[in-house]
Amino acid sequence: IPVDPFDLVIIGGTGDLARRKILPALYRRFCAGQMPDGARVIGAARSDMDDAAWRDFVGAALDEFAGAAGCDDRGRFLSMLSYVTLDALGARGWDKLAEMLDSSRVRAFYFSVGPRLFGPLAERLQRHGLADEGARIVVEKPFGHDLGSARALNVALAQHFDENQIYRIDHYLGKETVQNLMAIRFGNMLFEPLWNSQYVDHIQITVAETVGVNGRGEYYERAGAMRDMVQNHMMQLLCLIAMEPPAKFEPDAVRDEKLKVIRALDPVEETDVVRGQYLADGAQPGFKEHVENAESTTESFIALKARISNWRWAGTPFYLRTGKRLRARTTEIAVVFKDTPHSIFGPEAGQHRNILTIRLQPNEGIDLGVTIKEPGPGGMRLIDVPLDMTFAQALGPEAEGVPDAYERLIMDVIRGNQTLFMRGDEVEAAWAWTDPIIARWEEAGQVPLTYDTGSSGPEEALALMHRDGRRWREIR
Ligand code: BG6
Repeated sequence: IPVDPFDLVIIGGTGDLARRKILPALYRRFCAGQMPDGARVIGAARSDMDDAAWRDFVGAALDEFAGAAGCDDRGRFLSMLSYVTLDALGARGWDKLAEMLDSSRVRAFYFSVGPRLFGPLAERLQRHGLADEGARIVVEKPFGHDLGSARALNVALAQHFDENQIYRIDHYLGKETVQNLMAIRFGNMLFEPLWNSQYVDHIQITVAETVGVNGRGEYYERAGAMRDMVQNHMMQLLCLIAMEPPAKFEPDAVRDEKLKVIRALDPVEETDVVRGQYLADGAQPGFKEHVENAESTTESFIALKARISNWRWAGTPFYLRTGKRLRARTTEIAVVFKDTPHSIFGPEAGQHRNILTIRLQPNEGIDLGVTIKEPGPGGMRLIDVPLDMTFAQALGPEAEGVPDAYERLIMDVIRGNQTLFMRGDEVEAAWAWTDPIIARWEEAGQVPLTYDTGSSGPEEALALMHRDGRRWREIR
């Protein structure tokens, strides 16, 4: 969908997120013909720089992070960029910024800075007449550290901006395959009638990573996997899998349904959570070295059992696990259906279950395990085979042109579409669920279990499912 010329101000324009994600995403959209003539991207940060110096900075960022994306016209993209030296907490630069902007256009302010600056920035935007209707602000995670701090941020932003001007990013929602969850559920007749506790035995959500926390130790030591992944990304996946069908694919219709899921989550039992920390591996440092704290009790792995108390899901557990330095990088959701109520083939045919696996990354696709007769004359033996659809194969070149999460989300800000952004009450409800879990282990000074690099996490995570007569899918 084409957009009108806009002004995008990246506050924190010399930071890591700008370099790695925001600027490459804008460049790719430019190459795809989506940045209209006259659109402007203004970098704002404390460093003294002029336009030319920031353009050099951006050029270097594109070389490093824009991947294969590129077009002949990089010069024209760079000519859309300008820079203003801005003191977020002081007076410097604000008048100049206000003069540069065109109040007849959409103006988006991307707060690519730590959350402690969100409130002061919103206040200054308003003081300089920049918070009117055409203005939008974009904020990144972490949106707070707990319920209290998230609430304070919401209050601070609400003093200057309406909720419909605030875009809280969870980049998982911008992933094509995550949006596909909604298409799979609500665009097909096949699945929805079975999508409940009568037919679904349990659901597993896995976000496994091979990377460690090196380079981000300071942030991660304070966050841990629960705050870094579960409260936001995994919660969003859970919501999209569990929510009732919204009446329309519209921001509040979708967000209302997600909120209902979060509010229906039961408190998590102490025995339903397993925390782990990765060990050193030969020359590779372990978690404690990465966060430079030999006493660290922060978790780099978490597995837990969640329950949703509503008509659709009562009795169907949701098992969530995520961790760093695991065996493979894989994000998938497995919907494990119940056994057939009766086997006409007798006990020797064995137990067979349908499993719908939605692979979010890598190798995006869906796979439905179905039971068939084993070929051959040996009688009625049953085996499970995959009905596998890898999107790259099924869609061919179309699958390659898929924009990355930030491209999609930034353009949605410009279009004014909040469907894929978190609403303030959603974020608060998610913290309200995770806070007591975290508080319990913080109060007890709980030390996480350990696990080896390249493993599936601590053994106890396996036991979490075994004791329910279930097992995790392999991480591969
Ligand atoms: C970020 C977390 O939000 O998401 C990181 O802070 C994590 O710790 C990352 O590695 C995972 O994102 P993706 O897109 O690589 O799955």
